[in-house]
Amino acid sequence: MRLQDRVAIITGAAGGIGLEAAHVFASEGAKVVLADFQEEAGSKACQAIKAEGYEALFVQVDVSKKESVEQMVKRTLEEYGTIDILVNNAGITRDAMLVKMTEEDFQRVLDVNLTGVFLCTQAVVPVMAEKRYGKIINTSSVSGVYGNVGQTNYAASKAAVVGMTKTWAKELGRKGIRVNAVAPGFIETGMVETVPDKVIESLKKMIPVMELGKPRDIANAYLYLASEESHYVNGTVLHVDGGIMM
Ligand code: CAA
Ligand code: NAI
Repeated sequence: MRLQDRVAIITGAAGGIGLEAAHVFASEGAKVVLADFQEEAGSKACQAIKAEGYEALFVQVDVSKKESVEQMVKRTLEEYGTIDILVNNAGITRDAMLVKMTEEDFQRVLDVNLTGVFLCTQAVVPVMAEKRYGKIINTSSVSGVYGNVGQTNYAASKAAVVGMTKTWAKELGRKGIRVNAVAPGFIETGMVETVPDKVIESLKKMIPVMELGKPRDIANAYLYLASEESHYVNGTVLHVDGGIMM
């Protein structure tokens, strides 16, 4: 029970990696707040976790909107009284080649993947700083570290997440708050379903372990960074990508 009685907010927990992380965190003793834009899927996911006998709460949020994020934090504090862990996992893609990318799609991806991480972190830090304890985990991507064809907006947002992670690790370490990032490779979720088959096939050839990752691979990395096993880890980017780029 590595997260016994910890209160963890996981954004983007209605599906994919976030949903898997919610299950893993709950089974390790955490009180999990599943925060997601999708109300129906999020509520269902929360019910499923509760049905297993764990503690969980669903909160509808748009991480790109300040008032919505403040509401998420308020609701969490009303229900559980504190916040120990924040996983900034919510993210979107709007892929297109540079010359075809609309300004709207460029901006929307930055709003969710970059501004969303900023707003959620800014909203929880006062709670964590007051008790001098907190774990913040940001989700970057192999695309943010190495770039990826068709992902100008997404790569920019995920590279920025690395910059913010290192900045906050320096700012918040003295307040007892650890800030780290996970940079997943290609993981089998709805997000990757939009990638054309021919791209997936060429990708698989580039991954030394010859397969895509599973949501559990990333959830386990989140768990490590959320637990006391990573007590002295701060400002790092943990690559969980089968060795796709080295
Ligand atoms: N590497 C090299 N060349 C590529 C390429 C790649 N990964 N993807 C496309 N190209 C090439 C194509 O072969 C094509 O070349 P030609 O003009 O010589 O034929 C050219 O780029 C244009 O490609 P398309 O014909 O596919 O152009 P399109 O406008 O119809 O679509 C696209 C462009 C939307 C970017 C589409 O190619 C695509 O969806 N690619 C996949 C993008 C991708 O990898 N997204 C990752 C999503 S998962 C995720 O984001 C999670 C994460 O963090 C990793
Ligand atoms: P997913 O699409 O399965 O899940 C993303 C979740 O975020 C969804 O439930 C969605 O409703 C939620 N969401 C989207 N916009 C939101 C908003 N504005 N406010 C609140 N919630 C919102 O995606 P997946 O694959 O689970 O991705 C999780 C994270 O991992 C994302 O940050 C993604 O960029 C990142 N990632 C994913 C990789 C992959 O290959 N699947 C690789 C590298 C990074």
